[in-house]
Order: sequence, then structure tokens, then C-alpha cells
Amino acid sequence: MRILVVGGGGREHAIIKKLKENKSIEKIYALPGNGGMAKEAECVPVGATDLEGIRAFAVDHKIDYAVVAPDDPLVLGCVDLLEAEGIPCFGPRSEAAIIEGSKVFSKDLMKKYGIPTAAYEVFDDADKALEYLETAPMPIVVKADGLALGKGVLIAQDLDEAKAAVISIMRDKQFGKSGDQIVIEEFLTGPEVSVLSFTDGKTVVPMISSMDHKRAGDGDTGLNTGGMGTVAPNPYYTDAVAKQCMDEIFMPTIEAMNKEGRTFKGCLYFGLMITEKGPRVIEYNCRFGDPEAQVVLPLLKTDLLTVMQAVTDGKLSEIDVEFADRYACCVILASDGYPVSYEKGFELDIPAEIEDDVFVAGAKIENGKLLTNGGRVLGVTAVADTLAEAIGAAYEKADRISFDNKYYRTDIGARALKAGEAN
Ligand code: AMP
Ligand code: GLY
Repeated sequence: MRILVVGGGGREHAIIKKLKENKSIEKIYALPGNGGMAKEAECVPVGATDLEGIRAFAVDHKIDYAVVAPDDPLVLGCVDLLEAEGIPCFGPRSEAAIIEGSKVFSKDLMKKYGIPTAAYEVFDDADKALEYLETAPMPIVVKADGLALGKGVLIAQDLDEAKAAVISIMRDKQFGKSGDQIVIEEFLTGPEVSVLSFTDGKTVVPMISSMDHKRAGDGDTGLNTGGMGTVAPNPYYTDAVAKQCMDEIFMPTIEAMNKEGRTFKGCLYFGLMITEKGPRVIEYNCRFGDPEAQVVLPLLKTDLLTVMQAVTDGKLSEIDVEFADRYACCVILASDGYPVSYEKGFELDIPAEIEDDVFVAGAKIENGKLLTNGGRVLGVTAVADTLAEAIGAAYEKADRISFDNKYYRTDIGARALKAGEAN
């Protein structure tokens, strides 16, 4: 089989490594991929949003199956385009990817179908939004409607910050057209849980739960990033919470999308907050999380291609999807200064013995050498029988990888470990 994976980060590397366990796959192309995954996939310099380039490549290279991993090509309709060429895909069509592509859509969906989420108002006029804020409770959350590279959510502690957020999104167009509409919503508190799920639009199979660490600094300080590390499972996702989520959130969402004529097939990611009143949806993503995939997929026991094809064929109920009863921790090694400004182009040294556990996000090959080429450079994952061991092993491996200006958080998993011990 010849497989094409659209995307080029650590998540895609994790998907590719897992797919490679299936020996019927003879070739994987990554568009664009990155230099750090050259051993597992042929990286082709076609951008993940160059839909025409992707279509032409897939047809020319007689691709048998495509996995579209990032949000932008999904929202833009990459799956629609490939399916029209007769190429089966893993990932939702554009009409379903809107669940991530528009926060107004997803909030309205939840309201219409009674799916628990934060109370909210939608605005397409900055003056009205500013007027509303005058009497709104603080803190409050301001969200750009459309995709904003994961940066479109601003949490305002007081009225001044809230007004500044509205002005930067709606008037200064910090996120371009994504800010034509905004959602202003109630600030919730509680631990966050990421639950990725496989769904074919009929059956939903939640994967093992995980916990992201979004802030740049130890103790959840500093700026929001694309994620500095993850652990799985998440101790706040107890069996009771899982059942409640299945009954009140997961199945109702799948059914709501069907009723809207937007059947979702692929990986539906539920970003949840476990509040005192129960689990609430913070966000939906139409794809695997990054770096959630780097802990969830290493724990998957079932062949990934088999699961993906069952999703595509609408036969998910016919297979068992199993996860190891173990723990995983992924530590992201970034370039110092990320997410603001950082240098790149430093030589990357990954010992061969731990290469299998490394998922490269930002690297390139130049004159035969692997060089850093991004803010998040790579993630290194360890799997073990206890969370403490997984964390210890991930950091031990992280120490063995070297490049100039290497930066990482030193407390990935610390909160989960404490919560797990308290349970
Ligand atoms: P997102 O970009 O949608 O992943 O949101 C980024 C982060 O903002 C989330 O992971 C939460 O920590 C936080 N957040 C989003 N919505 C809310 C909310 N209604 N209340 C509290 N925190 C929120
Ligand atoms: N780790 C969060 C995300 O992928 O959106």
C-alpha cells in the first residue's frame, strides 16, 4: 500500500511511526513532512494547505489511502478533493471539519443539542461586544471564530483586558478574517482533559485520555504554546466522568452532526474541562491533538491502519480498539525563546537507541546533517507501568538529546502524578 500523510509536525511523525508497524504498507509520503522523519517517510515539499499540489501528487503517485492530519487542510476541504479522485481518506470532510473551523458553529451546535459547554454570546460588531462587556462578569474568555494557529483564545482577567482582546481581534484583525465574529464566553475552572476519539459517524471509540501542558513555563506560567508535553491517561478522567462524557457529550455530538447533515468521520478531539458541575466542552478539534498523539498512539495496541480504514468504511463497530494498560509521557524539546522568538539551524543529536521514541516537529536536513528548524523541535515519549516511571524515563531520554538552545519544561506530568496519588 502507498500512503500519503498530509502535515509535517510531531503529530504526523507519531502517526507515521504507528502506521509503519503494519507491514503491508510499502511506502509513506509525507507532504511536507520534515527532515526528522526522513527515515520513515519520503518527505515531499508540498505544503499542507496546497490542496491542488496534494491532489496532483496523490493522483500521480497512485496513492491508496490518505491521512489528512492538520486542521487547515481539513477545514479547506482536502478530504473532499481526494475523495473526488477516488482516494479513501482518514479525516472529516470540510462540512464536518467546521466543528473546529468555526467556534460560532460549534457553540451553536452545543446549544441546539443540549451539549454541556460554557455560556456564551456571539458578536459580529465590535461596538456591541464592547458594550456587552461593561456588565459581564470577569474573568471572561474572548475567542476568535475561525482558525488562529491555536492562539485565538484570550482569557481576560478584567474589563480592560477584555476590551483590549475584542479590539485586537475585531478591529486590529490580529487573526485576520478569523476575527470577523467572536464568541465571548463564561470563564470555567477545573482540570482539563483531552479525549481523542475515532468515529465513523455511527460509533464513537474514545482513545485513552490525556493531559496537555500548554503554557511555556514550569508551574503553568508564561505564554500559551502549541503544547509543551503530555501524559496519558489523565487521572481526572475517572470511569464515572468517562461514562458521563459518553452519554452527555460524545454520542450527542456525533448524533448532532448527523442531524445537521455533517457526518463526522475521523478523529474527533474533545477538549474538556471537569468543572464542579460536571464535564464541559471547551473546544472541539477535527483531528489528532499535538502533542496528545505522541502519548496516545504509542499506547494503541490495535493496528492503526486497520482502525483508520474501519472509520473510512463505516465499520468501526466491527473491530476492537485496544490500548495498553500503561502510562505514557511526552516531553517537548523546544528552542529557547519559543513561542516568541528563537534561533534555529543548530545541529541535532539524537542517539540511535532512542530514535524510535522521538517525534520530530521542526528539523531539516542540510549537507547531510539534521538541524533544528522550529520553535518546537521534537517530542520524546516514554511508556511504562506507572506514571512516575514514564515521566522519569521521558526526562532521561530528553537529557540524552542535544542541540544548542534546547529548552523544556521540567514539570510535565507533575500535576497528574499528584492527582493520581490523591485518587
Ligand atoms: P483553545 O485554544 O480553544 O485550546 O483554548 C486554549 C485554552 O484556553 C484552553 O485549553 C483552556 O485552558 C482555556 N479556555 C478556553 N475556554 C475557556 C473557558 N470558557 N474557561 C476557562 N478557560 C478556557
Ligand atoms: N494540544 C492541543 C491541540 O492539539 O490542539
